[in-house]
Amino acid sequence: MESSTFVLFGATGDLAKRKIYPALYNLYVDQKISTPFSVIGLGRREISKDAFQAQVLNSLQTFSRRPIADSAELQEFLQAFEYSVLDVGRPEDYKKLLQHVRQREQQLHLQENRMFYLSVGPEYFEEIASNINSSGLGSTKGWKRLIIEKPFGTDLKSARVLNDSLSTTFKEEEIFRIDHFLGKPMVQNLEVLKYSNPVLRALWKNRYIANVQITASETVGVEERAGYYDKAGALRDMFQNHMLQLLMMIAMQLPKGSTPEEIRSKKRHVMESLRPLMKEDLAQHVVRGQYTAGEIQGKSVVGYTEEPNIAPTSQIETFIAARLWIEDPLWSEVPFYIRTGKRMKEKSTRIVIEFKEPFNDYHNLNRSTQDPNLLIIDIGPDEALTLQLNTKDPLRHGELEPVPIKYQSGNADMPEAYENLIYDALRGDATFFAHWREVELSWQWVQPIIDAIEEGNLPLHPYSSGTYGPDAAMELLGNDRWWQDD
Ligand code: BG6
Repeated sequence: MESSTFVLFGATGDLAKRKIYPALYNLYVDQKISTPFSVIGLGRREISKDAFQAQVLNSLQTFSRRPIADSAELQEFLQAFEYSVLDVGRPEDYKKLLQHVRQREQQLHLQENRMFYLSVGPEYFEEIASNINSSGLGSTKGWKRLIIEKPFGTDLKSARVLNDSLSTTFKEEEIFRIDHFLGKPMVQNLEVLKYSNPVLRALWKNRYIANVQITASETVGVEERAGYYDKAGALRDMFQNHMLQLLMMIAMQLPKGSTPEEIRSKKRHVMESLRPLMKEDLAQHVVRGQYTAGEIQGKSVVGYTEEPNIAPTSQIETFIAARLWIEDPLWSEVPFYIRTGKRMKEKSTRIVIEFKEPFNDYHNLNRSTQDPNLLIIDIGPDEALTLQLNTKDPLRHGELEPVPIKYQSGNADMPEAYENLIYDALRGDATFFAHWREVELSWQWVQPIIDAIEEGNLPLHPYSSGTYGPDAAMELLGNDRWWQDD
């Protein structure tokens, strides 16, 4: 791997401490970062180099998946970190930053490759990108790349404005949009699972699949993010990005050995084939909910509108479910059910494939006494693959009994999503980053929901904390049912 400088905006922020520093450290220990390397942290406050390195050390001690013991290796790692004060709106600060970057490049004999990581609010993206351009920071002999985090816009229009403005400084192939769900090992495994298992490949079509269910349920509530969340809601916070990315990953169909370009083009195909929502019957396909007081794992919790800093009249959804249709030969007539919410019964991100039972009548079996075959893909917090089959129960007069065949990864030393993603970005591999067209198509599909909410045409259903969401989300499935642990 080529050497580079990692320029981190928002270096004293939460994401940097929780995710970015531990990820860099673990990559370093695994020798997945070329050494020597240089990290220049940026923030508004004046901090000495020593104090900054102490902050980085503290973050590793608190959040790294590997235990931290003092060692020459650790000291060497910390020495890579330097700090510069920067006010995002002051062009002269970028000039100073350029000098700092150059000085480190010369001192450490680094190639002029520069990674700009914007771990700051999206309202700063445009200003920072344009200052990177005008200060000369972006004029390098090597590569330059930009990493940004969701949200990419708040609706279709604002996403387009943001993209137009970023693309005056960075080309599409230089922009790495992080959707951290794409960094999760089991999500990265989905494609391999499909193409390397002929058993699954043979069944991967509408002839054999009855429906696909994607759930991301959380037990946490709004936490300390009222300011952000009460504007975003579950639609913008989870659905438009993470949930639709999971949909693309599970629904795309690829031959073995596909290139990053092919993968991203197949993902786009999924979004382009989605049946658009129509204003007239949108409410039959989308359900919004908001949590009320309840109990989660034995603990009482308040309702959303009683949370600190949330208006008692807030109409923001903390839960959303939808039924989607992909109109292509592979998936036609197969409903995709998606739901995500806060303060639900369990923390679980899971995809369930329900298979059809075409021989029901042939064997004269009663549908109600036989469970379908299921493939359950647990993405987190624990990773697992379960295939549910039916067998005869010898103790109950040979009645059919569903039995799960489960594989659970016992590897506790699994890389975290951010490690995978930062590593890929440093190598220039964009496979598991959101392409602009994916983002745009996702907003395009979601926009009618935003419009319906603004026009007051999409009801908000209350649901008790500690449940699987409002009843309306169960009814959304008609004769189907959500497969969940209850
Ligand atoms: C974030 C959302 O993107 O994803 C949070 O902003 C959510 O609201 C989080 O809690 C869930 O991620 P994970 O990895 O814990 O499932």
